[in-house]
Amino acid sequence: MKNKPKILFISGSPRNGNTDFALSKIYDSIDNNHKELIFLKDQDIKFCKGCLTCHKKPKCVIKDDMGAILTKMINSDIFVIGTPNYFDNVSGLMKNFIDRCHPLYKTELVRAKKVILILVGGGKSQGTRKYLSLSFFGFVKYLKLNLINEYSFQALNPLDLSKNESALKNISKIAKKINSLC
Ligand SMILES: Cc1cc2nc3c(=O)[nH]c(=O)nc-3n(C[C@H](O)[C@H](O)[C@H](O)COP(=O)(O)O)c2cc1C
Repeated sequence: MKNKPKILFISGSPRNGNTDFALSKIYDSIDNNHKELIFLKDQDIKFCKGCLTCHKKPKCVIKDDMGAILTKMINSDIFVIGTPNYFDNVSGLMKNFIDRCHPLYKTELVRAKKVILILVGGGKSQGTRKYLSLSFFGFVKYLKLNLINEYSFQALNPLDLSKNESALKNISKIAKKINSLC
């Protein structure tokens, strides 16, 4: 029997709000035990120093939680990545995570892995999608990932998404789509 794909969820919100809610909901609906949800706010991830040592060897000189996350990424098949919109960009937590993925650049270690983006902003969802899609452009391009879909939601206060019926329906649809990849 074919092994089920491994799904890694990564949330880049510093608060327990809409992005965490959306990712947790989708995570709970995935009918696959090969899944893990990482909240970047709970991880010790220092800033990239820009030393470029990882160009010679795909490993980071910084000893923190990012090493384990990179290993989890290499061992996963699908990434579901969520971030809030901060100034029409990803959150600082998410940008820091993206920068620390640099050891994967110049490797084939995550090539063609599927990515689904969950983007949450207080303003119109079209704007969040347009700008944050650009924020992930280099991440997808340089790690040679396969961007499957980007979903954006409008929610300002932490509980907004959980109280929005139409958003809840969309979250269920996204979960179904991801389940169909498993
Ligand atoms: C520093 C900061 C900047 C923000 N900038 C934007 C923005 O440019 N556009 C937008 O639509 N929402 C913006 N927001 C609103 C958040 O995206 C919104 O509150 C969202 O629900 C946060 O997601 P979370 O609950 O998962 O943390 C900003 C919020 C903060 C704290």
